[in-house]
Order: sequence, then structure tokens, then C-alpha cells
Amino acid sequence: MGLFRVIPKLLHNRVVMACAAPRHQQVLRNAGLRFTVVPSKFEENLSKASSPTHFLHAMETAKQNVVEVVRSMHQKCVPFEAELGFLQKHGKAMEDADGNPHGAEPPPTAIVELIDGFKVSKALFTACKMKVFDVLRDEGPLSAADVARKIDASEGGTGQLLDVCAALGLLDKTEGGYSNTPLATLYLLSDGEYSLHSFVMIHEEVIWPFFSYLEFAVREGTVQCQRTLGTAGEYQYQESLYQNREKKLQFMGAMHGHTKVAARQVSTAFDLSGFTSACDLGGSTGALAYELARQCPGLKVTVFDLPEVIEDAICFQPDGPQTGQVSFVPGDFFRDTLPEADLYILGKVLHNWPDDKVHQLLSRISRSCKPGGGLLVVEPVLDEDKCRPLPAVLKSLTMMVLFQGRERSLSEYRSLLQAHGFTDVRAVRTGTILDAVLATRA
Ligand SMILES: C[S@@+](CC[C@H](N)C(=O)[O-])C[C@H]1O[C@@H](n2cnc3c(N)ncnc32)[C@H](O)[C@@H]1O
Repeated sequence: MGLFRVIPKLLHNRVVMACAAPRHQQVLRNAGLRFTVVPSKFEENLSKASSPTHFLHAMETAKQNVVEVVRSMHQKCVPFEAELGFLQKHGKAMEDADGNPHGAEPPPTAIVELIDGFKVSKALFTACKMKVFDVLRDEGPLSAADVARKIDASEGGTGQLLDVCAALGLLDKTEGGYSNTPLATLYLLSDGEYSLHSFVMIHEEVIWPFFSYLEFAVREGTVQCQRTLGTAGEYQYQESLYQNREKKLQFMGAMHGHTKVAARQVSTAFDLSGFTSACDLGGSTGALAYELARQCPGLKVTVFDLPEVIEDAICFQPDGPQTGQVSFVPGDFFRDTLPEADLYILGKVLHNWPDDKVHQLLSRISRSCKPGGGLLVVEPVLDEDKCRPLPAVLKSLTMMVLFQGRERSLSEYRSLLQAHGFTDVRAVRTGTILDAVLATRA
């Protein structure tokens, strides 16, 4: 929790990590930080007697780690203590007082890390596809040879894949073999309550091929359905998904997991207790609806989505009393009458569409929403410079390649929503993968 308070302060600074632990790096990456790893070689062997308390001993050890890292970054540089002072004050150790770079060059590791990004993704996708984490959940710890036998793969290849997973903080490797870390157990089992397995598989099977045409998407400013799927048409990706039940269920599972892991933070971002009815437009499996119902026992939630989705939403119904508060209505939000509600919700819907379609949808919602009613938009919100947080920026790129859509900043949401009679537009950064924007119908 403490980390989440610190992260926003670090987002606009140069960050150097003094430790190479993959799990720590993953935590910072997940939080959207870019950083350089310069592991400290300080041996942490300060005598306890040299500090009067444990706290001061820990502080002195931390300081010596920083000193060692800055020294190795700036061996040829101006006096070290002055440099450290500058680092602490500005978080930019590589610049002089005029903001010009001086001293040591930025390390090449930063570029190599970026180059290696796709290998990290592909290793994760492959381990999920081969159900490595399921095998280890059921029978771990296991040796590479045992895992290889269970997933019907080569021992050498499996060992290398497992080692990468261990380096990424997804597996623990001990003398007894490999086992899942809590991160993998929580999110990567194919049937876990908070599983992102289907979300990973959508990246492996759909988003990866789309991204291989990124250059064309950038050059032509168009979605890449023709090249990727062999079919033309701006919204072909969604249509092609819904024509095949297995793919449709995988997509719904991906949306379900991705929303469920953030649903509690989103549902509690604002006080929604004044609303008695809500309609989640494009609400898919009801992942957010069920959590809203759990958080607000007086709220009735209608999930409105295309008929093909609604007919299979039952596959994702949880146990619990909140299911009685949630109902499902099939329809097309561009064509059909919207269900009545005093709070409308758009979760990961606006990012699928370019501005003209967003205006069309908001205008329909605005006509249905009574004065004093609300509109809750659930998306990763971009900073105003649109360069941060990194996960939101990358999501935006994904939406461009798939749908000609994009993520937006708070001021962009404000002007879109105000154009349709919504006021008091405010956002909460939830600290998880989705943020919340609430507006009131004037
Ligand atoms: C990216 S998914 C988001 C699902 C869910 N709101 C969430 O946050 O996980 C977009 C949803 O919008 C639905 N959708 C797309 N076009 C629609 C339309 N014209 N009418 C109703 N729903 C639609 C899709 O079927 C899909 O479930």
C-alpha cells in the first residue's frame, strides 16, 4: 500500500533501481514506472554496533547502497556528495544544474530491456498456453523433466522456459523443483477466481498478430483486420470473435478477468450509495455489475450487451446473494432503447471507438439519463501529456491497432461528457489497472 502512495511521485522522475530482483522490477513495471537497474554491489555488512538503533542501521545500509549505485553510475563525474545531493533534490542524477547531460552516458541496459520486452511477453504467453502454472498448482514443486513430461514438451526447452518464469518472479526455483509464486497462483491459473489466463491468451492469439502490423497501422492510420484476419471492415475483430462460440467465450473470459481484478477498487472509487438503479452498457459477463451489487446492497444493476454476449453471460455467474440484484438485457446501444437507470456505466467501451461514435453513444445516454443521474466511465485514464502511465499508453496503442480507438485523458473525457450535458466530471486513479471517471447529468 505504501508503494502506491510513492509511485505517483516517481512517475515524472528518472528512477534507478539499486536491486536486480525480478519480482521487485515487476512490481515497479506493473505500476507503470520506467526505470534503470543498477544493482548495488554494497555487501550490506555494516557492523550493527556502528549504529545506535536498528532503524538507524537500516538507514545507513540503505544510504550506502545508494552511494554505491551513484558511484558506479558516475565514476568519471563531479564530486560524489554533490552529485548525490542533486539526485535527492531533483531525481535526475544525469543532468547538471542547467539540465544538460553530463558525466557518464545513460546505460545501454535500458535499451536492451526494451528490446527484450517482447521476449518476456512471449515467454509468459507460452507458459500460460502450455498450462505450466496449472500443472505446478496441481503437483508442484516439480523438476523441469517432470513438467516437460506433463506438458508434452522437451526437457531442455521446458527448463529454459521455467527459468525465465523464475527470473520474472512467476515461479520459485528450489532444490525441490519449481513452484508457483503467489503472483502466478493469483492471476495465471486457468480457472482461478482472479484469473487473467484468458486475457493472456487473447494477447497470444489476437493482439500479438495485430501488433506485427503495427507499422502499417501507424503508416496508414487504419485497423489491421485485413492483414491480420484476412477480412476487411473496421469492426471485424469483434464480429469475427462472436461468430465462433469458443473464441467468444475466451474473449468474454478475458474481459471478465481483467475487470474482476480491479472491480472492487472501481466500485468504491466514488460514493455511489445515492443511486438505486444502474445500467452497465456493454457490461459483458457482469463482472463489474456483481461487484457493484456487493458494495451497494440497495442497487439494482442491469447489464446491457449484444444478444450473442448475453446468451452466454450465465457461464460467469458467481455464487452469492448479489446475483439477485443483477439482471441481463440484450440489445445494441447504438440502436435500441436503453434500459432506464439513474447511473449509466461504460466500462472499457469508449476506448473501442473513435470520437464520432463516442459522441453518438454519449448523446443516446444523455437522452436517457435524468437530471441528477450519473455516468461512470471505467478506463485507464491517461495523464494530460498522454505519455503516462505506461500501461494506459500501451492500452491506447492496442485500441488503435484493433479498433481505431484510444484511451483518453481526464480533460478529453471532460470535454466529451460536457458536450452532452454532463457536469462535475471527476476522476479517481484507483491504483489498479482501471480508473474511474464520474459525471453528473445537469
Ligand atoms: C471491451 S468489452 C468491455 C466489457 C466490460 N464492460 C468490461 O469492462 O469488462 C466491450 C463490450 O461492449 C459490447 N458491445 C460492443 N458493441 C456493442 C453494442 N453496439 N451494443 C451493446 N454492447 C456492445 C461488447 O459485446 C463487449 O462486451
